[in-house]
Amino acid sequence: MDDELILLNPGPACTSRRVKDAMLRGDLCHREPEFGELLAGLRADLPRALELDGHEALLVTGSGTAAMEMAVISSVREGRSILVVDNGVYGDRLLKIARANGITAHAVRPEAPDGDELTRWTTPIDPEAVRAALAAHPDVDAVAVVHHETTTGMINPIREIGAVVAESDAVLVIDAISGTGNEDQSLGEVGADIVCGTANKGLHGLPGVAFILCSDKGIERIQDVPARSLYLNAASYLKGQRDGNVPFTPAVQVCYSLDEALREYFEAGGFQARTKLYRERAALVRSGFERLGLEILVRPGARSNSVTMLHLPDAVPYDRLHDRLKERGYVIYAGQGALSSRFFRICTMGEIPWHRLERLEEALGESIHP
Ligand SMILES: Cc1ncc(COP(=O)(O)O)c(C=O)c1O
Repeated sequence: MDDELILLNPGPACTSRRVKDAMLRGDLCHREPEFGELLAGLRADLPRALELDGHEALLVTGSGTAAMEMAVISSVREGRSILVVDNGVYGDRLLKIARANGITAHAVRPEAPDGDELTRWTTPIDPEAVRAALAAHPDVDAVAVVHHETTTGMINPIREIGAVVAESDAVLVIDAISGTGNEDQSLGEVGADIVCGTANKGLHGLPGVAFILCSDKGIERIQDVPARSLYLNAASYLKGQRDGNVPFTPAVQVCYSLDEALREYFEAGGFQARTKLYRERAALVRSGFERLGLEILVRPGARSNSVTMLHLPDAVPYDRLHDRLKERGYVIYAGQGALSSRFFRICTMGEIPWHRLERLEEALGESIHP
């Protein structure tokens, strides 16, 4: 095996030497003008990286969930509610965030016989169900949906949902965290008002910094919402970051690394090139899964390009498969919740040398049939 362990989990993802070395640019006080320049560069680069020119970026030190929580609590006005698409762990998390913060939340879920979780988690939401839920709850102020449900590697139809939401006054909040830079999101055409992203998945930065990208309507909304949290109040980040600073001590070195990751991203051809790479990776590893007889859970047409959920082969417990693959240089990822005993995930996010993906089939074969 090559020296480096390849992470095939959905973040934190492997990073390049340049990105890791950027951590060593030095110590910097975030009240100095140099940090203001770094922040201004990131705020300009992030919308451009996701082809969302015109959106304004707010960075927060924290994991992706910090961006989700900031988006949810900053998008619903007093006395109004949020409609959440719930067809996976992260949709469920959006709901939990709203409720934990005292915001009335309605869930819209795919139809599933007897509430079967597997069906619910592998069925993209029908935009007509969103339309019906909006009609049933006229007080909805924001609609939140996860684009790429990392739970199963399933894509929700955000463009169609965007068209439905555009017929109302609600703002559209998209959790684009596991698709940031790597999935074909066309966010510019979706009408997304608040987009949540993170440094360490498709952008190949390090974990510790997340962000929201806001349209003009999104900016208006966050200024019109009561402060429900001290740390995650988007309006105070907006005020501070427009003046070149941040309200709390930022993860300066992680910001350096994100800056370097974005340089690499643009040098390599930006969004179009990164999403093409992920499509090619998906095609490569999935042809190997097919030869090995490994069945993919999500139907074609609803699959992401970065996460593949596979049925565990008969008589191969997950832990054994995990350990055998780790000996061969690959870290795979378990299924979540009810899916953990029957399925596993292989994620092709981050800096992964192509030849290591080519060798994955052999390593998997040896691990399944020793
Ligand atoms: C779709 C999605 N949303 C949110 C998150 C939460 O991110 P974090 O674990 O960085 O808080 C994840 C993490 O994998 C995710 O995949």
